[in-house]
Amino acid sequence: MNSKDSLKRNPKVVVVGAGIAGVGAAGKLLEQGFTDVQIIEASSQPGGRIRSSQFGKSLVAEGAQYVHGASMKNPIYQLVKEHDLLQQVYNNSDTEWSVLTNTQKQLDPNFTEEMGKVASGILKRAHLLAQEKGYTQAKSLADVYLEEVKMFLAQCSGDHVDLRRQKLGLLSMSMKWQCIHLATNGLADVSLREYEEYKNIDGGDRNAPELFPSLLQKLLEVVPKEKLLLEKPAKQIQWNRSFESEDGSLYPVRVLCEDGDQILADHVIVTISLGCLKANNQSLFEPSLPEHRLQAIQNMGFGTMNKIYLEYETPFWDENIDIIGLVWEDETPLSGQKPNLVEWWRRVPVVYVFKPTERYGHVLVGTISGKEAEFVESLSPEEVATNFTTLFRQFTGRPSVPGPKSVFVTKWFSNPYTRGSYSHISINSTADMIDMLAEPLPEAIEGTSPMLQVLFAGEATHRSYHSTTHGALLSGWREAERLINHYSIK
Ligand SMILES: Cc1cc2nc3c(=O)[nH]c(=O)nc-3n(C[C@H](O)[C@H](O)[C@H](O)COP(=O)(O)OP(=O)(O)OC[C@H]3O[C@@H](n4cnc5c(N)ncnc54)[C@H](O)[C@@H]3O)c2cc1C
Ligand SMILES: *[C@@H]1O[C@H](CO)[C@@H](O)[C@H](O)[C@H]1NC(C)=O
Ligand SMILES: *[C@@H]1O[C@H](CO)[C@@H](O)[C@H](O)[C@H]1NC(C)=O
Ligand SMILES: *[C@@H]1O[C@H](CO)[C@@H](O)[C@H](O)[C@H]1NC(C)=O
Ligand SMILES: *[C@@H]1O[C@H](CO)[C@@H](O)[C@H](O)[C@H]1NC(C)=O
Ligand SMILES: *[C@@H]1O[C@H](CO)[C@@H](O)[C@H](O)[C@H]1NC(C)=O
Ligand SMILES: *[C@@H]1O[C@H](CO)[C@@H](O)[C@H](O)[C@H]1NC(C)=O
Repeated sequence: MNSKDSLKRNPKVVVVGAGIAGVGAAGKLLEQGFTDVQIIEASSQPGGRIRSSQFGKSLVAEGAQYVHGASMKNPIYQLVKEHDLLQQVYNNSDTEWSVLTNTQKQLDPNFTEEMGKVASGILKRAHLLAQEKGYTQAKSLADVYLEEVKMFLAQCSGDHVDLRRQKLGLLSMSMKWQCIHLATNGLADVSLREYEEYKNIDGGDRNAPELFPSLLQKLLEVVPKEKLLLEKPAKQIQWNRSFESEDGSLYPVRVLCEDGDQILADHVIVTISLGCLKANNQSLFEPSLPEHRLQAIQNMGFGTMNKIYLEYETPFWDENIDIIGLVWEDETPLSGQKPNLVEWWRRVPVVYVFKPTERYGHVLVGTISGKEAEFVESLSPEEVATNFTTLFRQFTGRPSVPGPKSVFVTKWFSNPYTRGSYSHISINSTADMIDMLAEPLPEAIEGTSPMLQVLFAGEATHRSYHSTTHGALLSGWREAERLINHYSIK
């Protein structure tokens, strides 16, 4: 403990970003007795990637919607219980699938279930290879996929050509679905070596379409209103200096805002997305980040996943169905995943029926990732509607399938304060880079006490829970604890 710090005036902390990481960090600091905490948020509302929008009869999640791991090991689930929000978390029931093909077939559920097992077997194999470090040739997740698909096909050499096409189409669908979970262009971008680093929490996934905004409100209850400045984008973080305030005190950090305001601080917690760190790599920090960090930021994986909400007057689907799978019999995982913007809708592997119907009306939500997800942001709702109507008519074989009465597409890629959806460990990166990104600046020099001028939190800084709300929250708490420990006199 640096005794100079403990005797210093009340430390001033600026948190950049009011997503769940930033709000979590600020809340913890305030609860632990820090009083001079200021959150600055670029957009007009807090929440970041957990915001909702009005659509149809209700609010729908633009970002996070599932609790990944419904157990007390998950801090999100703990908060849900603590704040009595369990009624907003839907309990698991069997998921009813209806899998349709571009040749108007509805595939036998037993067959699709069997193929689902083949697909999850491939992922299990990838996990094993990653655990055993048993990759000689395979570098990416796609490499394993291809090898395993080839082996699987060798066992089905007697198949009729139609059956073979259906199998390949189904495996293609599940590959696209994996890309959505990973927010990536293709599985060839995802590191196999690091595939074991992301950890699942027990308890399975639970649908909670309105939970996250409520949870954020609860977390904000301990943050006085004046401590959260909205529409206040930070332009540059100047560190490793000595800035003098009007009262003559010295501060090592200064946050320059887009509107010209300058905020001095002892510590800044940066929670902006990896996508924004990439896009603003030349200008966000002064002095610039050390070269190895810039390299890491450039090489770490951050991709786009968008949701496409479609509202209908009357459903054209069977209302017992939860998920509609879309299988293209002319696709095969063996040809690799090349972007196809002309037929972008081929990148939508499944469409969920948004439930409960009494609450949301007749709403479908499609998910899409990769370049096609970026492209779909440039289309008008009418264009998206036209293309989905063609798609559904083709797959059901029913020209009477109506068009949607409204369409809403999320725009995480063009959002200047996100620039994508969430992170993954790309073939060019390692989990160690995540830990490096989470290290405070200036980088620690052995034998001296750390100065903790700039701290980093946010989804992409959590080694094992990146890409999730619990990872983001834990990263915010981690950085708050770092400051709390720094000032506690032991
Ligand atoms: C489509 C989608 C679906 C998802 N689904 C799930 C799910 O089902 N379950 C789950 O657990 N997770 C899910 N996630 C991930 C989860 O939403 C995120 O991991 C988490 O919300 C990230 O929180 P954060 O605080 O790290 O970042 P953010 O929420 O991005 O917060 C950062 C904040 O910083 C602000 N900001 C950016 N630049 C500046 C600047 N220059 N100055 C000031 N402020 C700035 C931003 O506006 C933002 O409010 C999903 C994400 C997306 C996009
Ligand atoms: C789910 O189950 C829990 C406990 O059994 C209950 O409290 C909660 O209200 C249920 N949620 C919904 C949406 O039905
Ligand atoms: C699917 O499997 C179940 C149980 O194994 C069986 O009862 C049913 O007849 C099968 N359905 C078809 C269409 O083959
Ligand atoms: C990995 O790095 C290579 C070489 O710089 C580059 O061509 C490729 O696009 C990168 N891939 C990903 C997924 O970042
Ligand atoms: C920080 O400032 C010190 C003293 O001015 C200087 O020696 C050091 O190189 C600076 N560090 C960085 C990363 O700019
Ligand atoms: C870094 O910034 C430069 C200049 O703004 C930009 O051209 C480049 O694409 C950025 N790098 C990444 C990885 O986004
Ligand atoms: C997709 O939408 C575009 C723009 O509305 C239209 O030109 C094109 O014909 C549509 N294609 C299909 C297959 O619906």
